[in-house]
Amino acid sequence: MSRLLEGKVAIVTGAGRGIGREEAMLLAEQGAKVVVNDLGAGFDGSGKDDSPAQQVVNEIKAKGGDAIANGESVADFAGAKRIVQAAIDKFGKLNIIVNNAGILRDRMIFNMGEDDWDAVINVHVKGSFNMSRHACEYWRTEHKKGNVLNGRIINTSSDAGLLGNAGQVNYGAAKAALALMAITIDKEMAKYGVTANAIAPLARTRMTTDATPQTAGMMAAPDQADKFDVFNPKNIAPLIAFLASDKAADVHGQVFRVGGGVVWLMRPWTTAAYVKSADTWDPADLGDKLNAELAKGVTAGDDLGKVFSVLQ
Ligand SMILES: NC(=O)c1ccc[n+]([C@@H]2O[C@H](COP(=O)([O-])OP(=O)(O)OC[C@H]3O[C@@H](n4cnc5c(N)ncnc54)[C@H](O)[C@@H]3O)[C@@H](O)[C@H]2O)c1
Repeated sequence: MSRLLEGKVAIVTGAGRGIGREEAMLLAEQGAKVVVNDLGAGFDGSGKDDSPAQQVVNEIKAKGGDAIANGESVADFAGAKRIVQAAIDKFGKLNIIVNNAGILRDRMIFNMGEDDWDAVINVHVKGSFNMSRHACEYWRTEHKKGNVLNGRIINTSSDAGLLGNAGQVNYGAAKAALALMAITIDKEMAKYGVTANAIAPLARTRMTTDATPQTAGMMAAPDQADKFDVFNPKNIAPLIAFLASDKAADVHGQVFRVGGGVVWLMRPWTTAAYVKSADTWDPADLGDKLNAELAKGVTAGDDLGKVFSVLQ
């Protein structure tokens, strides 16, 4: 059986648990050598524990794969460089970065502390920037030497960042940034054979059970063992394996939502309608024109209720 990622080297961040764990396991099963990075933090980013990453490495090795554990924080610029270097030192090169590490500090805007804002932005936005920045420098340098590595970056966004969700102003801002970061990096790196895409996953992990109990019920495992477990985090990994592969060479700057057996191709901000004046607008006239356009329903978009009804 030919494997999709034979000969590739991948880093999956936050791969000690949840979605990242399944991604690392499937990338290894598909032939990639994997750096399993995980700080081993609580869902709010507190604490440190090397054992989840090591456990995933042990499982990959038990199945005949090759992997190393890494406990650096992606939020640390120098630490992220060491993660990239660890892949190159151990496996001789790097092809794939899956920016998956994440934390939650949910609060309404009026209650959110500066530290809640900084922590979430640091892990998601700065962490994904850090990893991508060091990998892209490496891929550009290698490309100039004639070593084409078909670099792949996959960022982890969220419906909270694509659609908005009350109580998650820090997380939503971070996840919106991750979608646009992928689109931007893709434009910058296309000439070096690198693609960047983003996914918005839906899966049962501690993030959707312990951290946000309101989604726990919706994502519960089915009662019968023979029923498809739609929210099993395993269901996210096949899209990652495809996007990481040479088969996805023409998939550029896209954002996908994925859960269960469904993969949605999302559209970024697009023009829904416009109003035009031959001169500077009178604000009241502008208001009338915009209200008329809004009344046509042009801004009615997705909401999570619709998303879940497709999944079930
Ligand atoms: N579960 C969902 O339905 C869902 C929905 C949308 C987006 N996401 C995103 O998917 C990703 C994975 O989340 P999950 O649901 O598997 O949660 P999880 O809490 O099970 O896994 C996140 C992992 O990231 C690690 N981590 C945290 N900070 C880190 C840091 N600074 N450096 C390295 N590792 C760090 C944690 O230790 C943890 O193992 C996150 O980016 C999350 O925001 C999840």
